[in-house]
Amino acid sequence: MKLLVNIDHVATLRNARGEGYPIPVEAAKVCEDAGAAGIVFHLRADRRHILDRDVVDLKKEVRGITDFEMAATEEMIGILLQTNPTLCTLVPEGREELTTEGGLNMRTVYNDFKERVFPEIRTTEIQISLFVDPNPEDIELASKLGSDAVELHTGTFANASSKEEMFAELKRLKYAAELANDQGMKVNAGHGLNLENLPVLLEVVPYLNEVSIGHALISKSLFWGFQKTVKAYLEIISLYQDVQ
Ligand code: PXP
Repeated sequence: MKLLVNIDHVATLRNARGEGYPIPVEAAKVCEDAGAAGIVFHLRADRRHILDRDVVDLKKEVRGITDFEMAATEEMIGILLQTNPTLCTLVPEGREELTTEGGLNMRTVYNDFKERVFPEIRTTEIQISLFVDPNPEDIELASKLGSDAVELHTGTFANASSKEEMFAELKRLKYAAELANDQGMKVNAGHGLNLENLPVLLEVVPYLNEVSIGHALISKSLFWGFQKTVKAYLEIISLYQDVQ
């Protein structure tokens, strides 16, 4: 299982003052040097954190996996094709949301993805991952589209307000991971993961290929630095490698 670091919030900090620093690509290099397998960046329609020039720099400098997270708009697909990252993770995007609030509603997007989005991206080697809630129906539809991977939304698990809710969500995540794996898709996971809840997820949910972690990792790095923080996540991942 691989750790991908989402560096959006390095850009958030830079943009807060309109300064040229901190530089997302510099953070990406330190994370890779510390052992991260790759970098995730979400270019939003409103450019609230990652900017177009970051995408160019990241593609140029990142040595490992580049995961371009995006809404499936024509504008973003155009930038995606020019960028040519390892994979794109398609997410729903709401202008008012503070962060991605849930997975794609596969029933709603299915026809558009089948007729417009997949054919455009399939002209390239870029792998496609669909960010979905751990619902069997969404997994089945992702598979029917021929998606390479699903990224399971772990936000409900991470933000559960009781142990019962957390374990119920873990059960859904486990079943969704098994189903996606049975259907031949890679299984990624992300949202709200941190040093406390990651071991719980990894203990229960099998077949994880990549975990995508941003806010908690960047926040911890303010105190520990990226080197120590990335290594702490990798240590957890290595402890659970045999479950995966
Ligand atoms: N995966 C997806 C699809 C996301 O939208 C996000 C948030 O940008 C993450 C992973 C990372 O979530 P977090 O910042 O809570 O670790």
